[in-house]
Amino acid sequence: MTTLHGFLFQVYPYICFSVFLIGSLIRFDQNQYSWKSDSSQLLRGRLLRWASNLFHAGILFLFFGHLVGLFTPHSLYGVFMSAATKQRLAVTAGGIAGAVTFIGLTMLLYRRVADPRIRYTSHPSDIAVLVVLWMQLVLGLATLPQSLQHADGSVMLILADWAQRIVTLRPVDATALAALHWSFQVHVVLGMTIFLLLPFSRLVHAWSGFAAALFLFRPYQVVRSRRLGVPPGHNLPGQPSAVPSPNLARAMENPPAAR
Ligand code: HEM
Repeated sequence: MTTLHGFLFQVYPYICFSVFLIGSLIRFDQNQYSWKSDSSQLLRGRLLRWASNLFHAGILFLFFGHLVGLFTPHSLYGVFMSAATKQRLAVTAGGIAGAVTFIGLTMLLYRRVADPRIRYTSHPSDIAVLVVLWMQLVLGLATLPQSLQHADGSVMLILADWAQRIVTLRPVDATALAALHWSFQVHVVLGMTIFLLLPFSRLVHAWSGFAAALFLFRPYQVVRSRRLGVPPGHNLPGQPSAVPSPNLARAMENPPAAR
Protein backbone atom coordinates (compact mmCIF):
# COMPACT_ATOMS: atom_id res chain seq x y z
CA MET A 1 0.00 0.00 0.00
CA THR A 2 1.27 3.46 -0.86
CA THR A 3 0.68 6.81 0.85
CA LEU A 4 -1.67 7.62 -2.02
CA HIS A 5 -3.83 4.57 -1.21
CA GLY A 6 -3.90 5.62 2.43
CA PHE A 7 -5.04 9.11 1.46
CA LEU A 8 -7.64 7.92 -1.07
CA PHE A 9 -9.30 5.28 1.10
CA GLN A 10 -8.85 6.74 4.58
CA VAL A 11 -8.93 10.54 4.24
CA TYR A 12 -10.53 11.36 0.87
CA PRO A 13 -13.94 9.83 1.81
CA TYR A 14 -14.28 12.29 4.69
CA ILE A 15 -13.21 15.25 2.52
CA CYS A 16 -15.80 14.30 -0.12
CA PHE A 17 -18.68 13.79 2.31
CA SER A 18 -17.90 16.95 4.28
CA VAL A 19 -17.84 19.05 1.09
CA PHE A 20 -21.00 17.26 -0.10
CA LEU A 21 -22.96 18.05 3.06
CA ILE A 22 -21.60 21.48 3.99
CA GLY A 23 -21.37 22.62 0.35
CA SER A 24 -24.99 21.62 -0.33
CA LEU A 25 -26.12 23.43 2.80
CA ILE A 26 -24.26 26.63 1.86
CA ARG A 27 -25.58 26.57 -1.71
CA PHE A 28 -29.14 26.02 -0.50
CA ASP A 29 -28.77 28.85 1.98
CA GLN A 30 -26.97 31.34 -0.28
CA ASN A 31 -28.17 30.64 -3.80
CA GLN A 32 -31.55 28.97 -3.92
CA TYR A 33 -32.37 30.24 -7.43
CA SER A 34 -29.49 28.13 -8.76
CA TRP A 35 -30.86 25.01 -7.02
CA LYS A 36 -32.49 23.29 -10.00
CA SER A 37 -32.13 20.48 -12.51
CA ASP A 38 -31.86 23.10 -15.29
CA SER A 39 -33.95 21.10 -17.72
CA SER A 40 -33.29 21.79 -21.39
CA GLN A 41 -36.65 20.34 -22.42
CA LEU A 42 -37.84 23.74 -23.71
CA LEU A 43 -34.89 23.91 -26.09
CA ARG A 44 -35.40 20.44 -27.54
CA GLY A 45 -37.78 17.79 -26.30
CA ARG A 46 -36.81 15.20 -28.90
CA LEU A 47 -34.65 12.38 -27.43
CA LEU A 48 -34.90 13.85 -23.93
CA ARG A 49 -37.97 11.88 -22.88
CA TRP A 50 -36.40 8.48 -23.62
CA ALA A 51 -32.88 9.50 -22.61
CA SER A 52 -33.82 11.09 -19.30
CA ASN A 53 -36.32 8.42 -18.27
CA LEU A 54 -33.97 5.54 -19.06
CA PHE A 55 -31.10 7.31 -17.32
CA HIS A 56 -33.07 8.25 -14.19
CA ALA A 57 -34.74 4.84 -13.83
CA GLY A 58 -31.35 3.16 -14.09
CA ILE A 59 -29.35 5.54 -11.91
CA LEU A 60 -31.92 5.50 -9.09
CA PHE A 61 -31.89 1.70 -9.09
CA LEU A 62 -28.08 1.70 -9.03
CA PHE A 63 -27.97 4.33 -6.28
CA PHE A 64 -30.28 2.43 -3.93
CA GLY A 65 -28.68 -0.87 -4.96
CA HIS A 66 -25.25 0.44 -3.89
CA LEU A 67 -26.72 1.85 -0.69
CA VAL A 68 -28.35 -1.43 0.36
CA GLY A 69 -25.54 -3.62 -0.98
CA LEU A 70 -22.70 -1.72 0.67
CA PHE A 71 -24.29 -0.80 3.97
CA THR A 72 -26.26 -3.91 4.95
CA PRO A 73 -24.11 -5.79 7.49
CA HIS A 74 -23.18 -9.30 6.42
CA SER A 75 -24.60 -10.64 9.70
CA LEU A 76 -28.06 -9.40 8.65
CA TYR A 77 -28.43 -10.91 5.17
CA GLY A 78 -26.09 -13.83 5.99
CA VAL A 79 -29.04 -15.47 7.80
CA PHE A 80 -30.86 -16.19 4.54
CA MET A 81 -28.30 -15.57 1.79
CA SER A 82 -24.62 -16.40 1.28
CA ALA A 83 -22.14 -13.76 0.13
CA ALA A 84 -21.80 -15.61 -3.18
CA THR A 85 -25.58 -15.46 -3.80
CA LYS A 86 -25.68 -11.79 -2.88
CA GLN A 87 -22.88 -11.07 -5.32
CA ARG A 88 -24.66 -12.99 -8.13
CA LEU A 89 -27.79 -10.96 -7.40
CA ALA A 90 -25.80 -7.70 -7.42
CA VAL A 91 -23.99 -8.54 -10.65
CA THR A 92 -27.22 -9.51 -12.45
CA ALA A 93 -29.42 -6.65 -11.21
CA GLY A 94 -26.57 -4.13 -11.42
CA GLY A 95 -25.65 -5.32 -14.90
CA ILE A 96 -29.22 -4.84 -16.20
CA ALA A 97 -29.67 -1.45 -14.50
CA GLY A 98 -26.18 -0.43 -15.64
CA ALA A 99 -27.03 -1.25 -19.26
CA VAL A 100 -30.29 0.77 -19.06
CA THR A 101 -28.43 3.72 -17.49
CA PHE A 102 -25.68 3.45 -20.10
CA ILE A 103 -28.18 3.75 -22.97
CA GLY A 104 -29.94 6.74 -21.36
CA LEU A 105 -26.74 8.51 -20.35
CA THR A 106 -25.10 8.02 -23.75
CA MET A 107 -28.22 9.52 -25.38
CA LEU A 108 -28.11 12.47 -22.94
CA LEU A 109 -24.43 13.07 -23.65
CA TYR A 110 -24.91 12.76 -27.41
CA ARG A 111 -27.82 15.20 -27.31
CA ARG A 112 -25.85 17.70 -25.23
CA VAL A 113 -22.79 17.81 -27.48
CA ALA A 114 -24.29 17.04 -30.90
CA ASP A 115 -27.25 19.43 -30.74
CA PRO A 116 -25.87 22.97 -31.33
CA ARG A 117 -28.83 24.55 -29.55
CA ILE A 118 -28.20 22.53 -26.39
CA ARG A 119 -24.42 22.75 -26.62
CA TYR A 120 -24.29 26.56 -26.87
CA THR A 121 -26.60 27.02 -23.90
CA SER A 122 -24.76 24.47 -21.73
CA HIS A 123 -22.54 25.49 -18.86
CA PRO A 124 -19.21 23.59 -18.94
CA SER A 125 -20.26 21.86 -15.72
CA ASP A 126 -23.39 20.44 -17.49
CA ILE A 127 -21.15 18.58 -19.93
CA ALA A 128 -18.57 17.70 -17.27
CA VAL A 129 -21.24 16.10 -15.06
CA LEU A 130 -22.43 13.88 -17.91
CA VAL A 131 -18.86 12.89 -18.83
CA VAL A 132 -17.95 12.04 -15.21
CA LEU A 133 -21.16 10.00 -14.74
CA TRP A 134 -20.50 8.21 -18.04
CA MET A 135 -16.94 7.33 -16.99
CA GLN A 136 -18.15 6.12 -13.61
CA LEU A 137 -20.77 3.94 -15.27
CA VAL A 138 -18.30 2.41 -17.72
CA LEU A 139 -15.89 1.71 -14.84
CA GLY A 140 -18.71 0.10 -12.86
CA LEU A 141 -19.60 -2.12 -15.82
CA ALA A 142 -15.88 -2.96 -16.22
CA THR A 143 -15.80 -4.35 -12.68
CA LEU A 144 -18.47 -6.95 -13.49
CA PRO A 145 -16.15 -9.49 -15.21
CA GLN A 146 -13.70 -9.02 -12.32
CA SER A 147 -16.46 -9.73 -9.79
CA LEU A 148 -17.41 -12.88 -11.66
CA GLN A 149 -13.83 -14.12 -11.23
CA HIS A 150 -14.35 -13.99 -7.45
CA ALA A 151 -17.66 -15.81 -7.38
CA ASP A 152 -17.37 -16.34 -3.59
CA GLY A 153 -18.21 -12.64 -3.03
CA SER A 154 -14.88 -11.90 -1.32
CA VAL A 155 -14.28 -8.59 -3.15
CA MET A 156 -17.80 -7.45 -2.34
CA LEU A 157 -17.19 -8.22 1.35
CA ILE A 158 -13.97 -6.16 1.36
CA LEU A 159 -15.72 -3.17 -0.23
CA ALA A 160 -18.76 -3.41 2.06
CA ASP A 161 -16.56 -3.69 5.15
CA TRP A 162 -14.60 -0.60 4.04
CA ALA A 163 -17.77 1.45 3.39
CA GLN A 164 -19.35 0.43 6.70
CA ARG A 165 -16.19 1.31 8.62
CA ILE A 166 -16.03 4.71 6.92
CA VAL A 167 -19.58 5.70 7.88
CA THR A 168 -19.26 4.37 11.41
CA LEU A 169 -15.92 6.20 11.90
CA ARG A 170 -13.94 3.01 12.57
CA PRO A 171 -10.34 2.43 11.43
CA VAL A 172 -10.04 1.36 7.80
CA ASP A 173 -7.71 -1.22 6.29
CA ALA A 174 -6.67 0.51 3.06
CA THR A 175 -4.27 -2.36 2.26
CA ALA A 176 -7.21 -4.63 1.43
CA LEU A 177 -8.57 -2.12 -1.11
CA ALA A 178 -5.13 -1.42 -2.55
CA ALA A 179 -4.87 -5.13 -3.44
CA LEU A 180 -8.07 -5.08 -5.54
CA HIS A 181 -8.17 -4.79 -9.34
CA TRP A 182 -7.59 -1.18 -10.49
CA SER A 183 -11.12 -0.92 -11.91
CA PHE A 184 -12.61 -1.27 -8.38
CA GLN A 185 -10.21 1.31 -6.97
CA VAL A 186 -10.86 3.94 -9.65
CA HIS A 187 -14.62 3.26 -9.47
CA VAL A 188 -14.60 3.88 -5.71
CA VAL A 189 -12.50 7.06 -5.97
CA LEU A 190 -14.55 8.53 -8.85
CA GLY A 191 -17.77 7.62 -7.02
CA MET A 192 -16.64 9.67 -4.02
CA THR A 193 -15.60 12.49 -6.37
CA ILE A 194 -19.16 12.68 -7.70
CA PHE A 195 -20.32 13.51 -4.15
CA LEU A 196 -17.56 16.13 -3.98
CA LEU A 197 -18.77 17.79 -7.20
CA LEU A 198 -22.47 17.61 -6.42
CA PRO A 199 -22.81 20.97 -4.58
CA PHE A 200 -21.11 22.77 -7.49
CA SER A 201 -23.27 21.42 -10.28
CA ARG A 202 -26.88 20.84 -11.34
CA LEU A 203 -26.68 17.49 -9.52
CA VAL A 204 -27.98 19.25 -6.41
CA HIS A 205 -31.47 18.62 -7.80
CA ALA A 206 -31.09 14.99 -6.69
CA TRP A 207 -31.50 16.20 -3.07
CA SER A 208 -34.86 17.71 -3.97
CA GLY A 209 -35.90 14.63 -5.91
CA PHE A 210 -35.36 12.46 -2.83
CA ALA A 211 -36.83 15.07 -0.49
CA ALA A 212 -40.00 15.14 -2.63
CA ALA A 213 -40.82 11.67 -1.23
CA LEU A 214 -41.38 13.35 2.15
CA PHE A 215 -44.49 14.97 0.66
CA LEU A 216 -46.22 11.62 1.19
CA PHE A 217 -45.82 12.11 4.94
CA ARG A 218 -46.64 15.82 5.11
CA PRO A 219 -48.95 16.97 7.90
CA TYR A 220 -52.49 17.95 6.99
CA GLN A 221 -53.05 21.58 6.12
CA VAL A 222 -53.84 23.77 9.09
CA VAL A 223 -56.88 25.87 8.18
CA ARG A 224 -57.61 28.69 10.59
CA SER A 225 -61.05 30.24 10.73
CA ARG A 226 -61.26 33.95 10.09
CA ARG A 227 -63.91 34.06 12.85
CA LEU A 228 -62.17 34.35 16.14
CA GLY A 229 -63.21 32.59 19.32
CA VAL A 230 -64.77 29.62 17.54
CA PRO A 231 -64.39 26.46 19.61
CA PRO A 232 -62.61 23.56 17.94
CA GLY A 233 -64.82 21.64 15.55
CA HIS A 234 -67.29 24.51 15.07
CA ASN A 235 -65.70 26.07 12.06
CA LEU A 236 -66.49 23.30 9.64
CA PRO A 237 -68.30 24.31 6.45
CA GLY A 238 -72.05 24.55 6.93
CA GLN A 239 -71.87 24.63 10.72
CA PRO A 240 -72.94 27.73 12.60
CA SER A 241 -70.15 29.05 14.71
CA ALA A 242 -70.64 29.47 18.43
CA VAL A 243 -69.77 33.14 18.24
CA PRO A 244 -70.83 34.46 14.84
CA SER A 245 -69.17 37.57 13.54
CA PRO A 246 -71.34 40.70 13.96
CA ASN A 247 -71.73 41.05 10.17
CA LEU A 248 -72.84 37.44 9.81
CA ALA A 249 -75.29 37.74 12.74
CA ARG A 250 -76.84 40.88 11.18
CA ALA A 251 -77.10 39.22 7.77
CA MET A 252 -78.80 36.16 9.30
CA GLU A 253 -81.33 38.33 11.17
CA ASN A 254 -82.22 40.38 8.08
CA PRO A 255 -81.85 38.09 5.08
CA PRO A 256 -81.96 39.90 1.72
CA ALA A 257 -85.54 40.07 0.42
CA ALA A 258 -86.34 37.22 -1.92
CA ARG A 259 -86.75 38.43 -5.45
C1 HEM B 1 -35.59 11.35 -7.45
C2 HEM B 1 -34.53 11.92 -7.89
C3 HEM B 1 -34.42 12.75 -9.16
C4 HEM B 1 -35.34 13.52 -9.83
C5 HEM B 1 -36.81 13.75 -9.46
C6 HEM B 1 -34.67 14.10 -10.96
C7 HEM B 1 -35.24 14.96 -11.90
C8 HEM B 1 -34.61 15.55 -12.97
C9 HEM B 1 -35.19 16.48 -13.89
C10 HEM B 1 -36.63 16.99 -13.84
C11 HEM B 1 -34.24 16.82 -14.78
C12 HEM B 1 -34.37 17.82 -15.94
C13 HEM B 1 -35.04 17.25 -17.12
C14 HEM B 1 -34.28 16.20 -17.71
O1 HEM B 1 -33.23 16.48 -18.30
O2 HEM B 1 -34.75 15.05 -17.57
C15 HEM B 1 -33.04 16.09 -14.46
C16 HEM B 1 -31.86 16.15 -15.17
C17 HEM B 1 -30.71 15.49 -14.81
N1 HEM B 1 -30.54 14.63 -13.75
FE1 HEM B 1 -31.95 14.15 -12.38
N2 HEM B 1 -33.38 13.67 -10.97
C18 HEM B 1 -33.19 12.84 -9.88
C19 HEM B 1 -32.02 12.18 -9.51
C20 HEM B 1 -30.83 12.24 -10.20
C21 HEM B 1 -29.61 11.54 -9.84
C22 HEM B 1 -29.47 10.61 -8.61
C23 HEM B 1 -28.69 11.87 -10.77
C24 HEM B 1 -27.26 11.44 -10.90
C25 HEM B 1 -26.46 11.12 -9.94
C26 HEM B 1 -29.31 12.77 -11.73
C27 HEM B 1 -28.66 13.33 -12.81
C28 HEM B 1 -29.24 14.19 -13.73
C29 HEM B 1 -28.53 14.78 -14.85
C30 HEM B 1 -27.07 14.54 -15.21
C31 HEM B 1 -29.45 15.58 -15.53
C32 HEM B 1 -29.19 16.40 -16.78
C33 HEM B 1 -29.56 15.65 -18.03
C34 HEM B 1 -29.32 16.51 -19.25
O3 HEM B 1 -30.21 17.24 -19.65
O4 HEM B 1 -28.20 16.45 -19.79
N3 HEM B 1 -30.61 12.97 -11.36
N4 HEM B 1 -33.28 15.34 -13.34
